[in-house]
Amino acid sequence: MKLAVPKERRAHETRVAASPDTVKKLVAMGFEVAVEKGAGEGSAMVDEAYEKAGAQIVKDMKTACADADVVLKVAAPIADSKRNEIGMMKEGAILVSQLSARTDKELLDKLAGQKVTAFAMEMVPRITRAQSMDVLSSQANLAGYKAVIDSAEQFTRAFPMMMTAAGTVAPAKVMVFGAGVAGLQAIATAKRLGAVVSATDVRPATKEQVESLGGNFVAVENEEFEQAQTAGGYAKEMSDEYKKQQAALIAETIKKQDIAICTAQIPGRQAPVLITEEMVQSMKPGSVIVDLAVESGGNCPLSEVGKVVEKHGVKIVGYANVPGRVAADASQLYAKNLLTFLELLVDKENKKLSVPHDDDIIKGCLVTEGGEIVHPDLKA
Ligand code: NAI
Repeated sequence: MKLAVPKERRAHETRVAASPDTVKKLVAMGFEVAVEKGAGEGSAMVDEAYEKAGAQIVKDMKTACADADVVLKVAAPIADSKRNEIGMMKEGAILVSQLSARTDKELLDKLAGQKVTAFAMEMVPRITRAQSMDVLSSQANLAGYKAVIDSAEQFTRAFPMMMTAAGTVAPAKVMVFGAGVAGLQAIATAKRLGAVVSATDVRPATKEQVESLGGNFVAVENEEFEQAQTAGGYAKEMSDEYKKQQAALIAETIKKQDIAICTAQIPGRQAPVLITEEMVQSMKPGSVIVDLAVESGGNCPLSEVGKVVEKHGVKIVGYANVPGRVAADASQLYAKNLLTFLELLVDKENKKLSVPHDDDIIKGCLVTEGGEIVHPDLKA
């Protein structure tokens, strides 16, 4: 069994899909591992460490993938007029990566065209058995942490209350939008830094979670709110009437905040707009907004992907790929997620690869196989 770990080349991508720790375990599982030269350099994982763990360092992605049965990636392979990474994979190769499969049909067609067996890690079902393979959680948790650190960097005041002989520094007021995995970590991080924290979400289950972290829960708690969670634990798109009431409540609350951390998302859709331009105008000068949802349209329409902009005296941070801003930890956890996933595909006795098609985790994330798009939600 041959496995390749290419260097990631998409803009803002600093992570890598295997760590020296996971390479060691992959070798023990029976893989011959080829790591592209410099693949881990954005994550402080050097070639020598991979070599020591049992990998062979190869000069480029083409060489790494030429005869690889399995290719591990962080972001979807590039397939444009300048570079065709999908074409570097052999027919029948297994690709394990994040693929944005629900929104990138063209990519799926290309993967099917190359007869790649592709697993979209963002589609791994969020069942208990799959928790250790849950890349959305491992990465969002770090993004939530880093968003608060990024806000602190832009903020011209301190987070904790300080009582000094020269006067008192008031604690920062932080509001977190969306109390999922990223939001809960943002609340915990802001609390640790000494801020006064509040949070809002449309799922009723989050109220207790926010309060248990010491945050104040702010939401329109009507009948629709009580029903706002899907069976899968995600938010539903809310009615226009609910959005109106929610906007009025947020408009009142946001004026008093110093920092807003936006993490609200609805899987497969544009992120909901929660902080309008009018609300930005109402914030105090020097306030900071960090929009983690910027890559799916943003919770604030003024945020710009990959930039820090200043609008109406408020700094709006729209960094792309925030987990990649904590690359070493993000790669370490992502690599572990992939290692656990691969255990489903390896027959330990015979050290052979086989796809257990009746496994619910496999059914949830297998997107292309044998030249076809096979996932029931994604077939044309
Ligand atoms: P996400 O990234 O899709 O969304 C982030 C948050 O935004 C969610 O809490 C969502 O309710 C909230 N949101 C959406 N629209 C909103 C609006 N209009 N206003 C305010 N907030 C809004 O969600 P994430 O963080 O990936 O996970 C959500 C939930 O999934 C978890 O809290 C949990 O219930 C479930 N989950 C289950 C796991 C498991 O059992 N293995 C693992 C991870 C998550």
